[in-house]
Parts: sequence; structure tokens; C-alpha cells
Amino acid sequence: MSHLEMHQFICRTDNYGLLVHDHKTGATASIDAPDAVEIEKQLKKRGWQLTHIFTTHHHGDHVEGNAALKEQFGCVIIGPRAEADRIPGIRKEVSGGEAFAWAGRDVKVLACPGHTKGHIAYHIPSEYSVFAGDTLFSLGCGRVFEGTMDEMYHSVTQFKSLSPSTYVYCGHEYTESNARFALSVEPINRMLQQRAGIVSQLRQEGKMTCPSTIGEELKANPFLRTDSPAIRKNLNMEGASDAEVFAELRRRKDVFKS
Ligand SMILES: [Fe+2]
Repeated sequence: MSHLEMHQFICRTDNYGLLVHDHKTGATASIDAPDAVEIEKQLKKRGWQLTHIFTTHHHGDHVEGNAALKEQFGCVIIGPRAEADRIPGIRKEVSGGEAFAWAGRDVKVLACPGHTKGHIAYHIPSEYSVFAGDTLFSLGCGRVFEGTMDEMYHSVTQFKSLSPSTYVYCGHEYTESNARFALSVEPINRMLQQRAGIVSQLRQEGKMTCPSTIGEELKANPFLRTDSPAIRKNLNMEGASDAEVFAELRRRKDVFKS
């Protein structure tokens, strides 16, 4: 079986658009729908017909294109059951722990409460790809708006058990400011220093910094590194639990001036 083709682009200001295409069946999914006009343009460029939208959560910058794209393509919108009343055009409701078949592959649904209450991520193990929405970002994680810090800690931590070769596709290009925060809490991390250098070079060239991989995130993303002695020392939290360190990191990031 040939691999799915991923086509990623920036839309709105810092949202990622992502089209996932299966050459064999022609199936094409948009991961979220931040901008119908841009998504349509990118589809046209590739000669693809949109068959599905995988929605991660109800925020406007992730569902705004749903209605227009559904009207134009008649695509099936899949999204979180817990937020179904806030996902325009939703036809198939899914929850964490479930799986469904798409283009001959298994798609596993991960529950990710925290950023929103019903946030989900989509994992396609055979493609080593996870669509993390606004839960896990490169070198960072999403803000906790609707859930608790504890929920977000568990949501983010579950990504650690995915294969290190898994590509992480996330909802926003926030990597450069995430890198600045990460360096402020773990300045001696060589892998982080290296990645921050690559990220700033890419941004200077106007290029995207994602996807990264789970392996890269494990080495540099402070929200996956709550057991790092350097981070704990920096926060003066050597004896705290991982969930407590996570919550403190998230609180500090909320007010961090990058
Ligand atoms: Fe969001």
C-alpha cells in the first residue's frame, strides 16, 4: 500500500491547513477547516476532491470552513461527540478510544480534554502520523481553556506512548515563540538549542517548522519533559509530581513575554 500524501500549508495567520490524500481511492481529508477559500484553492492546485473533514475541536478557527466546504463537496464531517452541537455540519461523531476505517487504514481517536472539553486527536498508526489539533504543539502545548490542568496533563502525556517516529501535525505555527519559552525553562538542553536554531532559520526563510516527530518532541518539548531535573531545578519544584510541574509550566507560558 502506498503512503498517504500530506499537503500542509499556513492559512489565516498562523493556522495550519492539512490535506491528507490517498492516491488509490481518491479519498481526501482536511484536518480541521480553518479557511474554506484557501483549502479549496489548495485542493484545486492538487486536483483533489474533498471527501472528509476531521475536526479536532469546536474553536472557530478550526471549524469556520465546515459549512462552505460541505456545501461545495458534500464531504463527510467527522468530529468529537462531546462537542457535536458546536461542530457545523457534523455527520459522524467519535470519542476517544474509538477507531474508524478511512482509506483502508485504521484511524484511532485520542481523547484530549483540556484546551476544550471534547477535544480529540486522530492517530493513523500505519502512517506514523497524528493530528494533534491544539493539544500538542511543536515545543509546546495548547492553552487550557475549558478543562483542568490535570486533564491537559494527561491529554498531552499520552502522546509520549506513540512511536517516536510518529509525525506530529498540529493546529498552529507557534514553534518559534514556544522555543523561546522552552529555552527559558531548560536553557542547558542541547537538543532544544539545536532545534531552536533550526526553527528560527526556517522562520526567517518563511518556511513551516512542522511536522516534527514524537521523538524530537520528547527531547525538547518542556511539556513532555516534566521529569527533567534541569526544568525541575529551574522551577524550584524538585519534589513535585509531574502533573504539578506541567501545570506550573503551563501557567508560566500563559504570561510569558516572548
Ligand atoms: Fe483552539
